[in-house]
Amino acid sequence: NWTMERFVDTEIDRIRKVVGPTGQVIGAVSGGVDSTVAAKLMHEAIGDRFHAILVDNGVMRLNECTTVHKTLTEGLGINLTVVDASEEFLGKLKGVEDPEQKRKIIGNTFIEVFQREAERVMRESGGAVDFLLQGTLYPDVIESISFKGPSATIKTHHNVGGLLENMKLKLIEPLRELFKDEVRILGTNLGIPEDLVWRHPFPGPGIAIRILGEVTPAQVTIARKADHIYIEEIKAAGLYRKISQAYAALLPVRAVGVMGDKRVHDQVIALRAVETTDYMTADWFDFDGKFLRKVAGRIVNEVDGVCRVVYDVTQKPPGTIEFQ
Ligand code: XMP
Repeated sequence: NWTMERFVDTEIDRIRKVVGPTGQVIGAVSGGVDSTVAAKLMHEAIGDRFHAILVDNGVMRLNECTTVHKTLTEGLGINLTVVDASEEFLGKLKGVEDPEQKRKIIGNTFIEVFQREAERVMRESGGAVDFLLQGTLYPDVIESISFKGPSATIKTHHNVGGLLENMKLKLIEPLRELFKDEVRILGTNLGIPEDLVWRHPFPGPGIAIRILGEVTPAQVTIARKADHIYIEEIKAAGLYRKISQAYAALLPVRAVGVMGDKRVHDQVIALRAVETTDYMTADWFDFDGKFLRKVAGRIVNEVDGVCRVVYDVTQKPPGTIEFQ
């Protein structure tokens, strides 16, 4: 019978056998639970022969890169390189408003940057890197086999086929038989902090698909600050684990407001929070008015450029979880 301890031991043995005594592995981490658990397991198995790479795409959450870097290196001992490619990503996103175009640009740029880094690691290791680590879960495996519907475009950042071919890497997926709840238990057993283990999912294209309209550095600043305040208040109210996913979106419209004694025309933040088990259907989270009043007050007071806050009360379907 299956236990988590046995899974860890068996998996570490298997990784060591597959990779061999001198083989090396690279893999991207995002700060999410799947990639972190996969990275920690790899680190337990082969230590610094596993090279983790975090690509800063300029559309991650506020302070995200610094926090993830700290947790993975100081906390978990993982051999991690952070690549700041934010200017490259934001440069390519300039003038782009179409959401699918944003997804494509971010997905393709990610592959380019990651491949450059992988080639660097390859050179420095004298060609010893043979494997690419992916934190694929069982539901992702099923989805990619059986479902080529609209969500086939969803996991653009998982689209590593070309990369594997160009660099002659083999895929290694230690979580491919696990469900999310099992990955969380595994993560906890491996000493990964609770905060990270229980993190809400975050889309690969990041806040670029939560900024409706053009993604500029100024818009990124606004969206990040508003989101940070919202999530901070959700955590302070003890609601983070009850909610499946929450974020602030920046709408591309201007509304009137009165700030001090002046009329201003500033932007609108939309708050989204949903409860769901499968992410295929979802209901909006029923906050009490007091909570929403506090968050709205903080956002208009603390975030320059925002004069209004609205709450999204659309179920999925027909609404999706993301705004784009
Ligand atoms: P929707 O908006 O389709 O979202 O209801 C369902 C789940 O998928 C996530 N999502 C994405 N994840 N790349 C990702 O990695 C994407 O382009 C993307 N679009 C949506 C979304 O955050 C939610 O968890």
